[in-house]
Amino acid sequence: MTNADLIARYDGRVPRYTSYPTAPHFSAAVGPDRYGAWLRDLAPDVPISLYLHVPFCDRLCLYCGCNTGVVRHEAPRRAYAALLEREVRLVAAQMGRRRVSHVHWGGGTPTTLPADCLTGLMASVRTLFDVTDDAEIAIELDPTALPTDRLAALAAMGVTRVSLGVQDLNPAVQRAIGRLQSYEETEACAQAVRGIGVRAINLDLIYGLPLQTEQSVAETARRALGLEAGRVAVFGYAHVPWMKRHQALIQEATLPGAQARFDQRAAIGRVLEQEGGYLPVGLDHYARPDDALAQAAHHRQLHRSFQGYTTDAAPALIGLGASAIGCLPQGYIQNATRVPDYAQAIRAGQAATMRGVALSAEDRLRRAVIEQVMCDLHADLPGLARAHQADPAPLLAAARRLEGFARDGLVSWDGAMVRVTEAGRPFVRNVAALFDAYLNQHNADNDTKPRHAQAV
Ligand SMILES: C[S@@+](CC[C@H](N)C(=O)[O-])C[C@H]1O[C@@H](n2cnc3c(N)ncnc32)[C@H](O)[C@@H]1O
Ligand code: SF4
Repeated sequence: MTNADLIARYDGRVPRYTSYPTAPHFSAAVGPDRYGAWLRDLAPDVPISLYLHVPFCDRLCLYCGCNTGVVRHEAPRRAYAALLEREVRLVAAQMGRRRVSHVHWGGGTPTTLPADCLTGLMASVRTLFDVTDDAEIAIELDPTALPTDRLAALAAMGVTRVSLGVQDLNPAVQRAIGRLQSYEETEACAQAVRGIGVRAINLDLIYGLPLQTEQSVAETARRALGLEAGRVAVFGYAHVPWMKRHQALIQEATLPGAQARFDQRAAIGRVLEQEGGYLPVGLDHYARPDDALAQAAHHRQLHRSFQGYTTDAAPALIGLGASAIGCLPQGYIQNATRVPDYAQAIRAGQAATMRGVALSAEDRLRRAVIEQVMCDLHADLPGLARAHQADPAPLLAAARRLEGFARDGLVSWDGAMVRVTEAGRPFVRNVAALFDAYLNQHNADNDTKPRHAQAV
């Protein structure tokens, strides 16, 4: 079977499984009351993680699939920070002063908030929660948007890890995606955060963008080695113009096809592994062998959350801010996506929960299988069923289709244990999708069938 045959067979549209059930299957059946009850029911000793979403940027990159928008004035940025502060207090009042092991600031671009707002918010988090001394405090940065006062704020916040958006270093590609950013600017940003004592640096690269070629992405990856990041995320461009209207400005004729995307992904992987000494982690991450993510992958302790692959094992993630998604032992919850809707709820002293899903026993079992497949590239189906006191028969029935994957060399399958091979790594989502009971179901609120980005 050639790569072209594999792509033709497996390049369907499948989710990235940062949750299970996936977000398109959340519904309005879970609202603020349910969320409040779930928070209050959380056992007192359960450690938590926090995710704070800032939906603002200084620029709008044409490819961007995140929930964000350009906001230039300071007043709305300050107003939003005040709402976040209020939400942190609302949550803390319901669940008490919990131990917090991870705090993640995402966006958008969190450093669009004024420096005193960032430090004030982080100080409130530390007062209202017991942030452990070894907690990871991570933040996503746009290397072109880090003024000196924000750099000082990162130090004052106790940030321990930054993610730098690089995407692509080729000027023609950068023009086509509306994101101009020189290598020198990116390097200066990496040096500046190292200068304030942040040792952990992640980079984001994207393949499948307009005008990219196998050679150009390999060159970007090679130059990115100079930034000496501990981790590199390599995302396939998700072209979803029906959800993100600005992506329609990208001419589809300039987008690489499935075979080219597959080759680009492989080319970046080769540079990172063979020239940079990185190890592949899960579907789309690479980490230095001494990095905690590579270690966690090696010891099968990797987790998958809305932020992608993580070492964070806390059983509860509290999402704060517009569109933020939280995960509690009882289920998932998502805040209102639009800032005005979010603001209205928070100003009224209520949770901004817009939708969610309560987990059934079957959801938990399937979630465990899907997380193991996505993280460990390996799952023991009868073992997982036993751990969940469930009948393995539905999983084994779903696994029958693995025989085809095994014939194509993508998995080894002995009737109990599924192991994704190296050749199967780019198709790991397709393997996970076999265990997704919602894959072909419509959303309960709007009766539409979710559309996903390309698998390859
Ligand atoms: C939420 S953004 C924040 C990064 C920061 N604002 C910046 O641009 O540098 C996180 C990452 O998501 C990735 N991303 C955004 N849109 C994407 C898309 N449509 N397809 C694939 N990856 C995407 C990019 O790699 C980006 O660095
Ligand atoms: S990629 Fe980053 S800077 Fe660009 S629009 Fe998206 S969140 Fe904003």
